[in-house]
Amino acid sequence: MLRIGILTSGGDCQALNAAMRGVVKGLATNVDNLEVYGFFNGYRGLIYGDYRLLTSRDFSGILTRGGTILGSSRQPFKLMREPDENGVNKVESMKSNYYKLSLDCLVILGGNGTQKTANLLREEGLNIIHLPKTIDNDIYGTDVTFGFYSAIDVACDAIDRIHTTAASHNRVFIVEVMGHKVGWLTLYAGTASGADIILLPEIPYSEKKIIEAIDKRHKEGKGFTIIAVAEGAISKEDAALSKKELKKKREKESHPSAAYRIAKLVEEKTGTEARVTVPGHTQRGGSPCPYDRALCTRLGSAAAKAIMDQKFGNMVAMVNGETKLVPLEKVAGKLKTVDPECQMIKEAKRVGISFGN
Ligand code: F6P
Repeated sequence: MLRIGILTSGGDCQALNAAMRGVVKGLATNVDNLEVYGFFNGYRGLIYGDYRLLTSRDFSGILTRGGTILGSSRQPFKLMREPDENGVNKVESMKSNYYKLSLDCLVILGGNGTQKTANLLREEGLNIIHLPKTIDNDIYGTDVTFGFYSAIDVACDAIDRIHTTAASHNRVFIVEVMGHKVGWLTLYAGTASGADIILLPEIPYSEKKIIEAIDKRHKEGKGFTIIAVAEGAISKEDAALSKKELKKKREKESHPSAAYRIAKLVEEKTGTEARVTVPGHTQRGGSPCPYDRALCTRLGSAAAKAIMDQKFGNMVAMVNGETKLVPLEKVAGKLKTVDPECQMIKEAKRVGISFGN
């Protein structure tokens, strides 16, 4: 008899169901008497005992389905040790539900914040396996996270569609791609769709350089410019401010986000019309791309093996094309950011893409 719990936490992405299917199929094919308890809406289900015994039928036909059959929610890590509004001790409650069900392991699918809580539960003595999910691709210790390639497809398609209309109107188009802290998605989607300027949180931009890049295109006879900007892109001046100073400055500005800040700059300094497109949560929606389906089947299957081998306390990562178990204690709390000096940035610059620096 093997009894596992499973939950999906944090922002959703396209391949969560595919990953859960991989885990459960990997176990069901090899273990007699498997019981799988699904906790609903992330850690909330584990805290408040909202769960259901699932059958293999629940995991059938979901390889291509976006979202998560278990639902998800954001439960900030920094509040995990704080009692809730009714005084409930969240950590004790999660442990108590785990032990009440006599679980052998809890499988947790999620991003950075989720991983920190997974590590906390490991420290508290629970058997944990973590699967790295996020369109941001910012989890340390794995080459890739699931959701990333599916989101590239969506963001890239948005920019592709902007290309034709931008050319018709000789405008500057700014497409805002998800990613507050890291720019992997903007870097890949921008490069894949031929964006002229790519602005990432890791490379604070100079306003002057952006204008120069647009002017250069105009001089070359190109009437339009496409800028892919990450949600967290920031100017050099703003990056030099303290958190408090920046918050104050943002409160005074009327721009809802980074893309609008760039649009205002472009209109003021070049006189060219600028338009903003924000694909937003469409980047997390729809079916997982084939790469993510295969990736999740592999990660899920590797997670099943880790559970059968009782190798708990690990993230199932993808390293150099191979699945690998990485101890949670080594990666929790670390972020995988874009190195401004990396090969891909240098290659992109060589083909004329400006990073505004
Ligand atoms: O972490 C995934 C992500 O989609 C980020 O790219 C984005 O900044 C954030 O979540 C949006 O969060 P929410 O769905 O809570 O608005």
